[in-house]
Amino acid sequence: MNHEQSQSLYDRALSVLAGGVNSSVRATRPYPFFVERGDGGHVIDADGNRYLDYVMGYGPLLLGHDLPQQVTAAVQQRASEGPMYGAPTEVEVELAEFVCRHVPSVEMLRFVNSGTEATVSAVRLARGYTGREKIVVMQGGYHGAQESTLVEGEGDHTHPSSPGIPESFAEHTLTVPFNDEDAIHELFETHGEEIAAVLTEPILGNYGIVHPVDGYLETLREVTDEHGALLIFDEVITGFRVGGLQCAQGKFGVTPDLTTLAKVIGGGFPIGAIGGRAEIVEEFTPAGDVFQSGTFSGHPVTMAAGLETLRYAAANDVYDHINELGRQLRSGLTDIVADQAPEYTVVGTDSMFKMIFTREGPSSPGADHCEAGCRQRPACDRYEHCPKHGTDVRQADTERWERLFWPAMKEQGVFLTANQFESQFVCDAHTREDVEETLEAYKAAL
Ligand SMILES: Cc1ncc(COP(=O)(O)O)c(C=O)c1O
Repeated sequence: MNHEQSQSLYDRALSVLAGGVNSSVRATRPYPFFVERGDGGHVIDADGNRYLDYVMGYGPLLLGHDLPQQVTAAVQQRASEGPMYGAPTEVEVELAEFVCRHVPSVEMLRFVNSGTEATVSAVRLARGYTGREKIVVMQGGYHGAQESTLVEGEGDHTHPSSPGIPESFAEHTLTVPFNDEDAIHELFETHGEEIAAVLTEPILGNYGIVHPVDGYLETLREVTDEHGALLIFDEVITGFRVGGLQCAQGKFGVTPDLTTLAKVIGGGFPIGAIGGRAEIVEEFTPAGDVFQSGTFSGHPVTMAAGLETLRYAAANDVYDHINELGRQLRSGLTDIVADQAPEYTVVGTDSMFKMIFTREGPSSPGADHCEAGCRQRPACDRYEHCPKHGTDVRQADTERWERLFWPAMKEQGVFLTANQFESQFVCDAHTREDVEETLEAYKAAL
């Protein structure tokens, strides 16, 4: 593959953009390819190279790069009518109604402009509503580029994970390992009266993919209820992706008090939302006292794109299609791993998939292993080895993934997330042939 144009664009970018990119995860080594345009389930770069795309904008593109006519028509109409007003529009009510109708925990919501903004506001709302200051997050969990959740450490010994964040932020953030029931009980025994909320993804999607062990989400629900704390599900990735229109909370049958959404609900445009029980969400200004505001929030072009995308997904077999392709990919990868790298773990559910370069596993696959992505089944012969939480994931062979595997896939025309930990996504435009081509590429690269 020729990458001359990308190389020269990156050279220019390094002079004017910090690190040459606008989001750190895009800075692949030695330089990223610059995208010229999308085409269904593919992207084409500035040098004309074509890649099967499983990054899908890091999750938002449920339908792929060619939006259905009803989505493009709605976007074009909104843009041509004047892009935004600073006054309410009907379309934001319609999108809110759609989300409230389908997501079990959401009776009312507030739109914002990114997943980060959603989690910032959800944390403030939880603190304002409960009158408590501490929040609990999962070790290695990611909830956007915000002060309260960029922490490292264990339990109540936490520190900011980035320069620029005062230590005092981390004092109010406690961490536990995902899937560890004892740890959450212990933390609540010590700090139960001070905890405003537990904030977690229902499946660790940003740092994983890690499936919850049976009963873990239920335990979080019980322990928060018992101590008067809120349970917040960060469904920025899983929202309208896992569990279809009911999101991951519907799939797992555990209803949080608050839910943060973003990515898919904007149909490819910037969005975020904080939803939940009306009595809590109404604490936001102007109905309540917890300050929340935003110039671009409820942007009509985004609202139209999100609404028509979700309507399209509801009226067509989008979730059946992408979940089946996801299953085929995970199951094909499971066979490849058994053959070529039995220590690696295939993870994911619905239309999310990943292979984690775990360092240990049974030397030969037994009869009873999870077939299409780790489900944390104690009966599975990989159970002891598959990552249970963020720290386990971090111990995987990141260097091999980044420096050898990712470029080898790219050179075969398959665009995966460049860091070992982020999920990859199937979109509606992908086909069975794409899956076969992808599996062949994995075989060759491994
Ligand atoms: C689980 C989760 N929460 C929050 C965010 C932040 O969203 P955004 O990048 O839109 O600010 C992300 C981003 O990928 C995420 O994966």
